[in-house]
Amino acid sequence: AIERTFSIIKPDAVAKNHIGAIYNRFETAGLKIIASKMIHLSKEQAEGFYAEHSERPFFGALVAFMTSGPIMVQTLEGENAVLAHREILGATNPAEAAEGTIRADFAESIDENAAHGSDSVASAEREVAYFFSADELCARTR
Ligand code: CMP
Repeated sequence: AIERTFSIIKPDAVAKNHIGAIYNRFETAGLKIIASKMIHLSKEQAEGFYAEHSERPFFGALVAFMTSGPIMVQTLEGENAVLAHREILGATNPAEAAEGTIRADFAESIDENAAHGSDSVASAEREVAYFFSADELCARTR
């Protein structure tokens, strides 16, 4: 089925000028960018986005990192988009990410892992809505 998923290029990958290379991976994989913007998250925005991790030991470091510089947020659309996006991202820990994946090629550590992707269709709906209003999502009819 055609799905939508939510994607972040994190501060480490933006700082290293990898935006275009990562967008190329999305488009080569058949994922269409239907909304996109650069933002610098506030502490409150980062804490809200990652609320499900608030009790985890890495939460403070995660929020500090995600607010350390600008990020790119995008909504991707395509066949089986949630899983397709996660497959090209590779494992959360770049040390475990398969060869040729975005995290294997662009990330340094589990904390600074270059990109985020929704883990389910339900998460994707929440995460897309956290950053984009309905009128910012562009229909891609061609
Ligand atoms: P992300 O998909 O953005 O969701 C939460 C982030 O927390 C994750 O990517 C990692 O960058 C970071 N993180 C740090 N330590 C861990 C851990 N032990 N398990 C999962 N995520 C972690």
